[in-house]
Amino acid sequence: MTAEETARRVAELKAERNAVILAHNYQIAEVQELADFRGDSLGLSQQAAATDADVIVFCGVHFMAQTAKLLSPEKTVLMPDPGAGCPMADMITPEQLRRFKAEHPGAPVVAYVNTTAEVKAESDICCTSSNAVQVVQSLDADTVLFIPDMHLADWVARHTDKQVIAWGGYCPTHVRINPDTVRYMQEQHPDAIFIVHPEARREVLDMADLVASTSGMAKFAHETDAREIIVGTEQGLVERLQVELPEKTFYIVPHTVCPNMKKTTAAKVLASLENMQYEIDIDPEIAERARRAVERMLEVS
Ligand code: 13P
Ligand code: SF4
Repeated sequence: MTAEETARRVAELKAERNAVILAHNYQIAEVQELADFRGDSLGLSQQAAATDADVIVFCGVHFMAQTAKLLSPEKTVLMPDPGAGCPMADMITPEQLRRFKAEHPGAPVVAYVNTTAEVKAESDICCTSSNAVQVVQSLDADTVLFIPDMHLADWVARHTDKQVIAWGGYCPTHVRINPDTVRYMQEQHPDAIFIVHPEARREVLDMADLVASTSGMAKFAHETDAREIIVGTEQGLVERLQVELPEKTFYIVPHTVCPNMKKTTAAKVLASLENMQYEIDIDPEIAERARRAVERMLEVS
């Protein structure tokens, strides 16, 4: 089937099923082209909560589709490839979180949305990369537990007056952004500015002109007068920006592919709509507690 045929069939099925396609900024181009909305974790959550579609086809990783289901429990949420997980989200289990809480009684738990619904259910409030500082600052506590990303936790600790006790998780893709590589790229492109995602390490964040979520970086890239930009995040976003802004030059930091974000294809999106697969299902008791943490986040965003 050609790309045009796939797109036509997807459009027909979307109308038949009253479906909407949401895609994360890291998705491959052919998937982003099918999407009704592309964005970062926060934007996608807000869209999932607001849409009046009956079906959401979520192109991203598992925790993102789960978050959509938490916010729209009456809707059918489908993932074209159910094997697209987030290794960082799997770095803390509910049992580990219960022990972490027991070691620090009274401290509220801030869960990065990159967590499972079961872990969110044990947490007080969620955050994303675009509102983590704001969420932590909003809490009426001097000490907070931050899970699972230790690098985002470190960034938050440096930008709030809270004591942040971090879990030791990390994003395998973003920790590969190496300060020596970035320095070399900056030497090679002295006029380029450097923007980066807060999942990268402190040494790398300290070299950046902007630290922001994926949509924050995209917005900045569109608005800046800079003509050359080194982008420290998953390369799917950088490839898209290069297409959107051909008059600017974007440099990809090497080794920045998230393999899970590449699992979804246009053919799988079509199969998802055709066969109504693969449905996200969350235990109602877990969902109710997890939803509270996500909704609390949306209240302060
Ligand atoms: P954003 O919310 O900034 O899009 O980040 C999601 C993510 O998984 C980054 O690795
Ligand atoms: Fe998870 Fe990192 Fe992939 Fe984002 S880039 S989905 S944090 S593994």
